[in-house]
Amino acid sequence: MQQFGVIGLSVMGKNLALNVRNHGFSVSGFSIDKPEVDALAKYEDDKLKPCYTWEEFVNSLEKPRKILVQIMAGDPVDQTIQKLIPLLDKGDIIIDGGNSNFNDTNRRYHELKKHGLHFIGMGVSGGEEGALHGPALMPGGDKEAYDEVAPILTQMAAKTADGRACVSYIGPEGAGHYVKMVHNGMEYAIMQEISEVYDIMRKAAHKSNQEMADIFAEWDKGDLNAYLIEIASKVLRQKDDLTDDDVIDHILNVASYKGTGNWMLEDAIKLGAPITVVAEAVLARFMSKATTREGKEISYQGEVPADLIDNLGKAMYLAQIVAYAQGFQQLTMAAKAYDWELNYPAIAQNWEAGCIIHAKTLYHIEDAYADGKQLDNLFQDPYFAGVMEKNLPALRAVVKQAAAAGIPTPSFSAALNYLESIFNPSLPANMIQAQRDYFGAHTYYRNDREGVYHTEWYEEK
Ligand code: 6PG
Repeated sequence: MQQFGVIGLSVMGKNLALNVRNHGFSVSGFSIDKPEVDALAKYEDDKLKPCYTWEEFVNSLEKPRKILVQIMAGDPVDQTIQKLIPLLDKGDIIIDGGNSNFNDTNRRYHELKKHGLHFIGMGVSGGEEGALHGPALMPGGDKEAYDEVAPILTQMAAKTADGRACVSYIGPEGAGHYVKMVHNGMEYAIMQEISEVYDIMRKAAHKSNQEMADIFAEWDKGDLNAYLIEIASKVLRQKDDLTDDDVIDHILNVASYKGTGNWMLEDAIKLGAPITVVAEAVLARFMSKATTREGKEISYQGEVPADLIDNLGKAMYLAQIVAYAQGFQQLTMAAKAYDWELNYPAIAQNWEAGCIIHAKTLYHIEDAYADGKQLDNLFQDPYFAGVMEKNLPALRAVVKQAAAAGIPTPSFSAALNYLESIFNPSLPANMIQAQRDYFGAHTYYRNDREGVYHTEWYEEK
């Protein structure tokens, strides 16, 4: 009998199946797409069994069955679940490893519970390579079901620099997919920040692709060490297959999306979470499609301060932390609203290797939340408060420089405004409240006494 099953054998599913097999567990693989099963059959041995029917697959698995469904999010997941329900026994575990919306996962979790089946919604990050060599895993659902699959997931997962697995129990219902959604929102934010740094370097500082590649590579050796910084450098060095140019110069500047970052924003709106950088990153992708492209190319000919590149590095580090701070802020608000107990140091650990946003900063985030420390905001932690104090002038300088050059910086400006606001005791919302009360008698609270107040604004006094 096989210890683990995988349904859906396109690159992600196939690589995850091979990953499990490579760690010594026996695996069955099934797909409704016969050529995918044929492709897996090339690796067949006593630990890897390709299956061609639902029944063959389900009957090959030891109980409680542990089945990873690795297919396109949406209806196909519901169809697969409906196929499986009559074939499974009470206590069996279905794991959805796709980028499913957490609301769907909540619904499926409760539906399957009625059938006596466990449902784990598991965020998987790291792309095709990660799937094979070690992804970051974010499983949510019943703890007892997680404990059943934990020995396998722990082996499969990426390992941190000090050898800990990038997987842990996230929380009930759709908490795992929620955390993956937040991961992706932060992914959008950090990618947008990197694109703005690139834009300032090329248009204001007139750096070549090679020079920028070297700068990103240098940053990757220090505080900014991160997968997305590393690949920014590699992208800038890549030659084109079709011309003698660098490929980056021929890639159409329209950003696509499958939408997981957008979902984070949708839920932030429900929760009232001020995730401004993520919001701007989502909207910047829309803007890249909506821009009319009728203007003149920007090439700033004014003076460039000697410390611009140094400031960009410092500003990028601070802006990257703002993206993380906003992610954790939304997680904190979601945990309260959805009654999930989330383990923040464990979430940071899950992201320390294997996933797209893995970065040295995550080790500091794990420390910030260690020992049950409760933070309303990551910048309350002394390490991050220190970075903010030290790097805020650089962020201000970069935004000012970009504005002078006419270069848009939606995410950098949002990061700056977030930091100027988040600990600010005198934001001007009193004016908004006054106007609401003026035109609609919406009432207001006072800063000097309890209770709800309304002013008769029109009366002549
Ligand atoms: C990951 C990625 C992965 C994928 C996103 C890209 O963690 O491995 O986040 O899930 O690359 O789907 O998202 P967009 O297509 O929305 O940019």
